[in-house]
Amino acid sequence: MQDIIIALDGYSGCGKSSTAKAVAHTLQYTYLDSGAMYRAVTLYFLRKRVNIDSSVEVKKALQDIQIHFSRSQDKQKNETYLNGENVEEEIRKMEVSEHVSAISAIAEVRQQMVKQQRALGQDKRVVMDGRDIGSNVFPDAELKIFMTADIRVRAERRQKELADKGVKVEVEDIARNLQERDRIDSSRSQNPLVKTADAIEIDTSNLNFDEQVAEVVKLAKEKINA
Ligand code: DC
Repeated sequence: MQDIIIALDGYSGCGKSSTAKAVAHTLQYTYLDSGAMYRAVTLYFLRKRVNIDSSVEVKKALQDIQIHFSRSQDKQKNETYLNGENVEEEIRKMEVSEHVSAISAIAEVRQQMVKQQRALGQDKRVVMDGRDIGSNVFPDAELKIFMTADIRVRAERRQKELADKGVKVEVEDIARNLQERDRIDSSRSQNPLVKTADAIEIDTSNLNFDEQVAEVVKLAKEKINA
């Protein structure tokens, strides 16, 4: 038996976070949502109207940002805190989704987040989802998964998630946001979203949730017991 790092990367809205969370739960590993960190930075930048073209302003803002995760009262989920405030709900809103790719493309933002992510994973036994986890944050991760899914399927799933929270958004608007984020995330110069040669691709278009979790757990157990 060995402790491993599981890196779960892929396009927006493929079910990475929910899969990673369930896999971590099954293996009794820690789930770390790297996207939530970029979302928290984005929320701070929006609130403080940070000028992202000014590297002085960006650096100053980053010095004032503390992000941590903490278990919810019912222990069911890990929630994101920005300078001590629980921002878990707020960072999922469309306004943050619309700006997060541009802000996460800034070199200084990435350097700071990657440093924190590496520290969080230093003892292994983590499942971290994001865009550059296997390619940049943990290039030596024992298991790398690259998730994909048809854009229509992704948009419909996201629409349902939002509807469950009482938020009504047109499926076309969601699809447009997902595609735009994929474009920016894949084409940025700093740690773009790429499938590494050693990553295993899982297309979730025709898988249900339990199937996609089972697939990743099976692959993880092979590595843990290798
Ligand atoms: O996983 P998510 O959709 O919550 O991520 C939000 C954004 O954060 C995503 O569009 C790009 C950025 N991100 C990133 O650049 N690198 C990561 N490792 C994770 C997320």
